[in-house]
Amino acid sequence: MGITISFGLQKGGVGKTTVTAVTSWLLAEQGHRVLAVDFDSQGNLTQFLTRSSPYEFLHRTIFEACKEHDPRPYIHQVTNKLHLLPAEDFLSGFSRYLYNEYKPTLGNDVDRNALNVVLRETLEIVRDSYDFVLVDLPPNLGEQTINGMAASDFCVVILQGEPFSFDALERYLETLEAVQRSVSPGMRLAGILTGIQDARTAMGQFILEQARQQYEELVFDTVIRRKARIVEFSFEGVQNRTRMDREAIEQYERFVKELLNRVKSRSFP
Ligand SMILES: Nc1ncnc2c1ncn2[C@@H]1O[C@H](COP(=O)(O)OP(=O)(O)O)[C@@H](O)[C@H]1O
Ligand SMILES: [Mg+2]
Repeated sequence: MGITISFGLQKGGVGKTTVTAVTSWLLAEQGHRVLAVDFDSQGNLTQFLTRSSPYEFLHRTIFEACKEHDPRPYIHQVTNKLHLLPAEDFLSGFSRYLYNEYKPTLGNDVDRNALNVVLRETLEIVRDSYDFVLVDLPPNLGEQTINGMAASDFCVVILQGEPFSFDALERYLETLEAVQRSVSPGMRLAGILTGIQDARTAMGQFILEQARQQYEELVFDTVIRRKARIVEFSFEGVQNRTRMDREAIEQYERFVKELLNRVKSRSFP
């Protein structure tokens, strides 16, 4: 049974998509069967992993999969081990779909969580075919994020060493606890990862220290530093040829190791 892990924060530009993409790539390289799920209408994960425009996947996305409660026709094979459920702009209609189209089909005695578990029910169908299902979430706390949290066994929160993202963290964690209480008692916070850390800014260091003080061991030891090569991966795909490539990938490798340790120790106590 595949372990589902989501990567989120209600702020954009903190490194969520990059962490999801490189982690998916690394796990697949290690021989795991990985399904990456793009659950952000920006389609950045789709673009990163396929190196083509998200519009190429028009009407062949996670949105159609959710509407049909069946992802199988929409899975795109990036490589043998790495598969993708793509997204593009129309996924921004997800909430409207839930309330205007899906809810009326449920009748009157509708379970109050029914709208929160559409992604979970959809992914459930293919979960057995994968070791890991990794979900990239959008920069807001709307229905997609709630569905993403509800579909997760583990959630990773991505933080950037700047005040906007740090201030968002507390609300994200409250939302996560609310989802835990209402729909997913087994879901766990795997930890908080700094997704883009500037090496030399005092603010970055200050925020990281604050996070460590407040959230203690929940903050991963690994800190993903800002490296120019990583931006290039988002249009070239992850590369592993030069020293610069290695240096860029190496920090994500350390994160993946930590993540797997946490996931294993908590799911098999
Ligand atoms: N470690 C990093 N070093 C340098 N640039 C990064 C790093 N991680 C992400 N980026 C770049 O920062 C921008 C935002 O990252 P992204 O992963 O799209 O964030 P989010 O998904 O949170 O919006 C992108 O241009 C991405 O290429
Ligand atoms: Mg993103």
